[in-house]
Amino acid sequence: MDFSLTEEQKLIQQAAKDFAQTELLPEVIERDDAQRFPEQEVKKLGELGFLGMMVDPKYGGSGLDTLSYVLAMEELSKIDASTSVIMSVNNSLVCWGLEAFGTEEQKEKYLTKIATGEVLGAFCLSEPEAGSDATSQRTTAIDHGDHYILNGTKNWITNGSSASVYIVIAQTDKEKKHRGINALIVEKGAEGFEIGPKENKLGIRGSDTHSLIFNDVKVPKSNRIGEDGFGFKFAMKTLAGGRIGIAAQALGIAAGAYELALKYSKERKAFGTEISNHQAIAFKLADMHTEIQAARLLVYQAARDKDNGNNYDLSGAMAKLYASKVAMETTVEAVQIHGGNGFVKDYHVERLMRDAKITQIYEGTSEIQKIVISRSILQ
Ligand code: CAA
Ligand code: FAD
Repeated sequence: MDFSLTEEQKLIQQAAKDFAQTELLPEVIERDDAQRFPEQEVKKLGELGFLGMMVDPKYGGSGLDTLSYVLAMEELSKIDASTSVIMSVNNSLVCWGLEAFGTEEQKEKYLTKIATGEVLGAFCLSEPEAGSDATSQRTTAIDHGDHYILNGTKNWITNGSSASVYIVIAQTDKEKKHRGINALIVEKGAEGFEIGPKENKLGIRGSDTHSLIFNDVKVPKSNRIGEDGFGFKFAMKTLAGGRIGIAAQALGIAAGAYELALKYSKERKAFGTEISNHQAIAFKLADMHTEIQAARLLVYQAARDKDNGNNYDLSGAMAKLYASKVAMETTVEAVQIHGGNGFVKDYHVERLMRDAKITQIYEGTSEIQKIVISRSILQ
């Protein structure tokens, strides 16, 4: 597999790197501490064209490939995974599904605004009783002719309060099980739609995660995405691509921690020499470097599969499973290499370690990725 980058991909990578250094780094610790949403930073991401990277320019997007998106996710995540998850949800879980399966009217009304970053989107599948077991949807969307009446609770929703457009998965016909589920576009401010309090999280504390409550919310039928009963397949297809974005986020977190640890190991002295001269530290760096490169190859391969029109369920799941494991292990070792300094906020690695954990949980836990992978290789 040749992963040599085109000139355009290199430019995107550099633009993301510069943005992360100049716009994200200066206040990343304060935002994490205060759980402050990166409002201005996200606005600038929109101006850069990073909130609808793969969307056709006729709908306000940048018309780039998945590999460019992955490169940008990787660079941003080295510095600030809170901002990168906001970008990831908007690109992979909202724009992609709307462009792939939305009607022309839905694309003109919603996609154009979301792809430019004028408004943000959210993707609402998880519920208190339906996380990994996503077919067990309790939220109902009852058919009333020209509209649905939506009732239920979604939880853990990224961009929960900052979004204006929500893609909500709900059960219309319980008898039909997962084939009776629909995906509906719900606007913020709809009567009966409430946003719960913000979650106080271990990591990605700058992103806003909320429960959403729907009490008899009227949703026009024209806001359904795809045919009646397509909602679960819609969610699965959307998540297959979303997992590539989160894999890139995990890769970036790992690479960011490694770069900090490498630099620190060449500056910090113990027993009369730089700690990188102690083989125990040098070997940690060797493992980190090797595992990050292996993760990178899996992530780029999944992106290539998507760009080449190949099936990416398996490669995306493998990339997410492996890159998230590498993110967790690398960040723990980066803290170790920093010694006591690793345990305080100023050196960034403790935040990267806290942020790494979520990549093994959201968009399908590592156990769920193993279900997807094992089913694929056994079928
Ligand atoms: N593409 C298309 N269709 C798919 C599919 C895919 N990748 N995967 C499954 N399906 C279809 C199946 O074909 C089946 O439909 P038919 O019966 O019509 O053929 C239907 O979906 C049900 O599939 P399964 O029988 O495999 O369902 P299951 O109950 O065994 O569950 C699962 C499968 C993979 C475990 C799934 O429930 C799952 O992915 N769970 C994890 C949920 C998840 O990832 N949530 C993330 C929420 S979003 C988020 O987290 C965002 C964020 O943090 C930022
Ligand atoms: P559970 O499904 O209860 O799982 C608990 C444990 O059991 C896990 O270790 C799991 O792997 C394991 N387990 C479950 N079933 C099996 C099985 N069959 N075999 C083996 N092990 C199993 N969701 C959205 O819809 N939209 C969002 O924007 C979103 N953002 C999120 C942001 C954050 C910060 C968080 C924490 C979550 C977010 N989620 C979102 C929800 C996330 O996708 C779920 O938390 C995740 O899918 C796991 O579901 P659960 O929390 O209910 O755990």
